[in-house]
Amino acid sequence: MATKKTIAVVGATGAQGGGLVRAILSDPQGGFAVRALTRDVNSDKAKELAKLGAEVVAADVDDLESLKRAFQGAYGAFCVTFFWAHFSPERELANAANMAQAAKHAAIQHVIWSTLEDTRKWVPLSDNRMPTLMGKYKVPHLDAKGAANQVFADLGLPVTFLLTSFYWDNFIYFGMGPKKGPDGKLAITLPMGDKKLPGIAAEDIGRCAYGIFKRGGDLIGRTVGIAGEHLTGAEMAAALARALGREIVYRYVPPEVYRTFGFPGADDLGNMFQYNRDFSEAFCAARDLAFSRSVNPELATFSQWLGKEGARITVG
Ligand SMILES: NC(=O)c1ccc[n+]([C@@H]2O[C@H](COP(=O)([O-])OP(=O)(O)OC[C@H]3O[C@@H](n4cnc5c(N)ncnc54)[C@H](OP(=O)(O)O)[C@@H]3O)[C@@H](O)[C@H]2O)c1
Repeated sequence: MATKKTIAVVGATGAQGGGLVRAILSDPQGGFAVRALTRDVNSDKAKELAKLGAEVVAADVDDLESLKRAFQGAYGAFCVTFFWAHFSPERELANAANMAQAAKHAAIQHVIWSTLEDTRKWVPLSDNRMPTLMGKYKVPHLDAKGAANQVFADLGLPVTFLLTSFYWDNFIYFGMGPKKGPDGKLAITLPMGDKKLPGIAAEDIGRCAYGIFKRGGDLIGRTVGIAGEHLTGAEMAAALARALGREIVYRYVPPEVYRTFGFPGADDLGNMFQYNRDFSEAFCAARDLAFSRSVNPELATFSQWLGKEGARITVG
């Protein structure tokens, strides 16, 4: 049997990387093996991945040398950063630079960089429609990822820039599930107006990444975007209502109100949704559904995702 191509996966115990690890392991004839990177090879999640058949190795995106070791001998590398673990765009940039340098050092043949738009190309810092945050960003957790694209490009790496989408899983894990509004009705609250937001099952990001590694070729050097569906807040509320058997409505709040909600990162997310709302057409166009399905035929719609995961959404 031909030697399998190894994909080194950053964030392997998390949402994006975990989906990729499972996608590779569930296709034993696909020609790929997986190396799961984690900071703690003895954690329950890491042991679970080892049990499923992954090679599990220690690496930390803050530690360049650990990444160099972990990428050595691999064909591909899936690179992602963890904004919500530290809320620092500068650290995301530094982490991305570490991964890019490690990929160069290991002569990786196909890198997927999980990125998002640098919104300052659409809303320059001088544009007062939304506040500038942390001194030089409009949407820190998007802008830093977009800015890091250059680091991968400058090193001449064979990269696919992968634009991801809003995880529908945020309705389970990110406190975005339906809550009782001032009128007593259950509502999802988003500052999106009547505009469409590209969304995806987090697990499908990894499955799409696997499809991109398998296709390789023409996707190397390109920017591609993925989503399961483009939906308005009202469409998401209607699907939630059908799936959960409850009346659930969509409540629009202006971004300036959302920014004052007080939870950590509310200003960043308020700006993000405002950008998503004001540039919805371009943001959706960059995440083509047919392309997403072509690299991942199992791609879930929102209703299909709700059918599988809806019971885990806390309501109220
Ligand atoms: N939520 C959304 O809707 C959404 C949409 C698009 C993009 N994103 C972006 O997705 C990114 C996060 O990806 P995710 O959701 O897959 O993450 P996640 O589920 O939070 O998982 C992160 C995993 O990465 C590992 N990790 C954390 N810090 C690390 C470090 N310093 N070095 C190495 N590994 C580390 C952890 O594993 P160990 O503990 O095992 O090391 C953890 O299991 C964020 O930057 C976010 O902006 C989110």
